[in-house]
Amino acid sequence: MKKSILITSIIILVIVSVISIFKIKIKPNKKVDNSTNNSVNSNIDNNVDDSIDDNTKYDAIEIETNDFENLENYNSYYYKAYLNYSKNNLDIDKQTIVYFINYCRKNNIEYMNINDYFINLYKENDFDAKKIDRYIYYLQNSLNSSYENVVKIVNNNLDTVILKNKVDEDFILNLINEKYYKSNNLERYINYFQNNKSLSSKEIVTNVNSNLDYTFYKDYNMTDTSKDTLMIVNKHYKLDNNYVPKNLVTIEPTYGYQFEIRQDVYEAFKNMYNAAKSDGISMFIVSPYRSYKLQNSIYNNYVAIDGINKADTYSARPGFSEHQSGLAVDLAPKAYMDLDTFVTSPSYNWMIENSYKYGFILRYPQNKEYITGYMYEPWHYRYVGVEAATIIKNEDLTFEEYYEYYVK
Ligand code: DAL
Ligand code: ZN
Repeated sequence: MKKSILITSIIILVIVSVISIFKIKIKPNKKVDNSTNNSVNSNIDNNVDDSIDDNTKYDAIEIETNDFENLENYNSYYYKAYLNYSKNNLDIDKQTIVYFINYCRKNNIEYMNINDYFINLYKENDFDAKKIDRYIYYLQNSLNSSYENVVKIVNNNLDTVILKNKVDEDFILNLINEKYYKSNNLERYINYFQNNKSLSSKEIVTNVNSNLDYTFYKDYNMTDTSKDTLMIVNKHYKLDNNYVPKNLVTIEPTYGYQFEIRQDVYEAFKNMYNAAKSDGISMFIVSPYRSYKLQNSIYNNYVAIDGINKADTYSARPGFSEHQSGLAVDLAPKAYMDLDTFVTSPSYNWMIENSYKYGFILRYPQNKEYITGYMYEPWHYRYVGVEAATIIKNEDLTFEEYYEYYVK
């Protein structure tokens, strides 16, 4: 009997020794660098069930994100984190935890060191777990950014551009909320802002969308005439010298001098003319389509009289005149009356109120000279079609702004 107790004791001793030797052997390698410049004190209780062996955080195969449902099957660091969050009543889904822990493991960061970052980011409505690395990078490299802003900036892919240009994030967030913000123009907005710090974000968007960061007549493109009634011709867009509209017709004496105009524009004009007439309003086309050659002689004549700088404020250089497109008309109240008389005539008010219904817009409005590049021309109307004209009127846009945002 004594002998069997001794044998049993020896067997137990051997088993215990083997287990303890094995345990020592598999203790985790503590060489891991957990340093992070922004380590924060976690709010959550780190005192969790220690039954999960710590070594698994270094040895476990990284959990594929599509395997997160089976987290419990992994005797791993992931599951330990999951239990920790649950224990602290943080209802964080498993997939998100996997993304976070994977990020920490890749970057050799002890997850508790950046746990506050993670939890605060997670609380943001638009938090996207897949972007955890960019959130944390932005958080660590920007100055005092709020969690809300970090999520917004990364989700809108603005993190790189803000960090690269060292630009104020509030300025960028105001920009992207502007109605006519164009993401393609972001770098141009930033550059323009650097030289025009007093402008509002609305003005920055308007001016850059209207190409005011480019020099008139210098950085121009060729007009895309395939846009047809929505083509743009201005100091940034030139027509080919040989461009002639395809469908020109001659104006009948009732409606204007016997020059040519695009047929579709003429039809729209006649409808407008008749509607105005039934309201007791008259109008008369003084100058419609003008060829490159005609514009050339008109412009050079003005240059001879007023000099180039002044002429440029009211007359287009050849190739840059909207009249060459066949889509523009200069209006007088009646035949033999001067263009200057239009603004004080009842025809002017009628046109301001009604022209959009027939697809025409006032092309060079007052106070928009810096955008259009021309002084106020109350007599110059441009056909763009009813849909565009309605938006332009309702939104108080120039055609420059409309084109870049809606047409280009
Ligand atoms: N007066 C306009 C701007 C033109 O010459 O086309
Ligand atoms: Zn004109």
